[in-house]
Amino acid sequence: MTVVASSLVIDNIGSLITNDPGLGRGPLGIVEEASVVITGGVVEAIGSAGAMADRRVDAAGACVLPGFVDSHTHLVFAGDRAEEFTARMAGRPYDGGGIRVTTDATRGASTDLLHQLVRRRLAEAHSAGTTTIEIKSGYGLNVIDEVRSLEIAHTYTPESTFLGAHLLPAEFEDRADDYIDHVCGEMLRGAVGHARWIDAFCETGAFDADQCRAVLEAGRAAGLGLRLHGNQLGHGPGVQLAVECGCASVDHCTYLSDVDIEALAASDTVATFLPAADFSTRQPYPDARRVIDAGATVAIASNCNPGSSYTTSLSFCIAIAVRDMHMTIDEAVQAVTLGGAAAIRRDDVGRLTPGSAGHATILDAPTHHHLAYRPGVPLIRQTIGPLGAHYSG
Ligand code: NIG
Repeated sequence: MTVVASSLVIDNIGSLITNDPGLGRGPLGIVEEASVVITGGVVEAIGSAGAMADRRVDAAGACVLPGFVDSHTHLVFAGDRAEEFTARMAGRPYDGGGIRVTTDATRGASTDLLHQLVRRRLAEAHSAGTTTIEIKSGYGLNVIDEVRSLEIAHTYTPESTFLGAHLLPAEFEDRADDYIDHVCGEMLRGAVGHARWIDAFCETGAFDADQCRAVLEAGRAAGLGLRLHGNQLGHGPGVQLAVECGCASVDHCTYLSDVDIEALAASDTVATFLPAADFSTRQPYPDARRVIDAGATVAIASNCNPGSSYTTSLSFCIAIAVRDMHMTIDEAVQAVTLGGAAAIRRDDVGRLTPGSAGHATILDAPTHHHLAYRPGVPLIRQTIGPLGAHYSG
């Protein structure tokens, strides 16, 4: 028996962002009056309006983009830290210490509850236009709870990241090197099979360059891809370490020296900005213009977590990047699609081209400019893609 995959056409698209300059106008490859035919979840054709398929979604002249790729989230957690945020808005600085508060809440939550919470956050992200997502562990900080967090994350996405080196847990106080040995040993052995990536938080108050290098090298030896949190709260060695180790991405990049930017530009390491974290922690915004003009690849991600950035909205991040990080709207849109894909080393997502994943975001607006022009407005009319298909609730 031959099984014929069902097809879907998104028709009557006013402005289609393909992210392929060979298909349309400008760096975003914009095609006007377009249709996209998706068969078996894969883009079969980009054409003019009026294409036929088994099912039809009428975009009614709206803008359609590739589904957003959110390459940095911490969705597996219990509790919230609204009080910490409120105190911060009253002048208290952010230092990452609240990670232990969330660790206590997460360790104390049932696995069922954690699944429910992750599903709710995924549904929120999906309705905000995200179709591909990376999810980190990092609020377990012991073998059982880190592995449990990764099992949960991996249920919903192949892009799961082991972040045992997020912060020193209380039981290892004053024994950071012992904890790093534990992360590189028993914890990593438990993580393998549930994680594609390994990550570490390289920052004063978290882990230093040698400790993070040990984590990354152990992860590499175990077959994991590498990523790093760096240069969030001040200048430091994170970017240089990420480039030295060949990380796919170094995330935050709030404080970058000229030497950091040169290193990024000469490397394959993506500079991932997390503007909602800078917003929520009252950090300065990075000057993305310097990084882009130097030739580095950039991404923007939500960093959804209960401490520094409790949002799943990449539209919000786009608006900040355009208003305060000196990015053009085109660059910001590309950073949450193609940039996010580069940060997780995927070339099947972040674009709408024949052969790519059929993940699309339909706006309630005629052009992508409205994502920055209408900040805070829910402009995502419909999200087509598998993030929602990965879970049932
Ligand atoms: O990416 N920087 C480290 N990790 C998170 C914050 C986690 C928290 O405060 O709970 C981040 O901002």
